Amino acid sequence: MKQVLIDRYGPPEEVARCAEVPDVGVPAAGEVVFDVLLFPINPADISFCRGTYRLKPALPATPGAECVGRVTAVGAGVSHVKPGDLVINLQRENWAQQRRVKADDVIAVTAGMDLQQAAMLRINPPTALLLLTDIVELKPGDWVIQNVANSAVGRLVIRLARQRGLKTVSVVRRESLFTDLRRLGADACVVDGPDLAEQVRAQTKGAPVRLGLDAVSGRATARLSSAVSDGGVICNYGSMSGEDPVMPRGALTSGGQALVGFILGRGLARRSLDEIRAIYADLGRQVAEGTLSAPVDRVYPIEEIKAALAHAQQEERSGKILVALSAPVRQSCLR
Ligand SMILES: NC(=O)c1ccc[n+]([C@@H]2O[C@H](COP(=O)([O-])OP(=O)(O)OC[C@H]3O[C@@H](n4cnc5c(N)ncnc54)[C@H](OP(=O)(O)O)[C@@H]3O)[C@@H](O)[C@H]2O)c1
Repeated sequence: MKQVLIDRYGPPEEVARCAEVPDVGVPAAGEVVFDVLLFPINPADISFCRGTYRLKPALPATPGAECVGRVTAVGAGVSHVKPGDLVINLQRENWAQQRRVKADDVIAVTAGMDLQQAAMLRINPPTALLLLTDIVELKPGDWVIQNVANSAVGRLVIRLARQRGLKTVSVVRRESLFTDLRRLGADACVVDGPDLAEQVRAQTKGAPVRLGLDAVSGRATARLSSAVSDGGVICNYGSMSGEDPVMPRGALTSGGQALVGFILGRGLARRSLDEIRAIYADLGRQVAEGTLSAPVDRVYPIEEIKAALAHAQQEERSGKILVALSAPVRQSCLR
């Protein structure tokens, strides 16, 4: 079978290659084997290849925080999924044609769900949800501000916030995104810059902004903080700038703001398996209905993993870069 391997840490398009490796074999008791159909390239996968992610396994290593697959065999004692089911995998190393994993790590998704959206269900939808539920107790009418608002997470935050009656300020790098984000449900859109606080005040008419969601880091964190009210919370959950967040001391001391961090793994680890399955059942239903989605820019075949990785690092993409593990799956995405 084919599997993406990195032999050293460095520029993703240089260090990743599509290798031929032995198949995974048959499932033991309590295991599931599935064919991977599609996977997205996320910012965390890019960091993983560069060696700047929090996990840095011994080499050679296989990236891949998420995927969608179809079960081909189950071991003794496995009853919650069966051959033919579409599944997502809660474990990593998914950039391969087959996976053999513990049964509790796979979650069945609605049959017939759009494969591209199913491939992106595992990480960004629950991240957007927990950013709105786990950081600050928010009530309808409260304002939330977020940067990277046109990212997959950002778009999901807009939709999920709207469902809860929350108001969102979307901070982006170019004005041409405003119409699209407003159509999604963004209440206010602004271009990031030194005057962010004034721009936001003008849009919110001075209403307090209780939560700031930051995935840029560096000075962008300080700019977001300038638009959040005294006593509000800035939650850092990513670093598209590659820097650490910079927080003005005065905002922490006189302003009483708090800077906290979020990572999905920790958010889910606090929950039981039943609660996790319930979260994915609800988000999966919304993805299947088309209420939640992330745009896709292009789908590459696994043999072109280097080109796919180069594309995933370009600015101003019109959506995610996905990789198909077989020609028929890629063809179905092109239709
Ligand atoms: N903590 C967690 O558990 C967790 C989970 C999921 C995701 N994340 C983080 O969430 C963020 C978004 O992930 P995603 O998968 O939704 O991303 P994505 O869809 O791949 O989009 C990336 C976004 O980053 C923006 N961007 C890139 N470089 C930037 C820079 N230097 N300054 C400002 N914006 C920049 C892009 O804007 P343009 O369109 O202007 O290029 C685009 O909106 C990432 O930082 C990711 O690591 C964290």
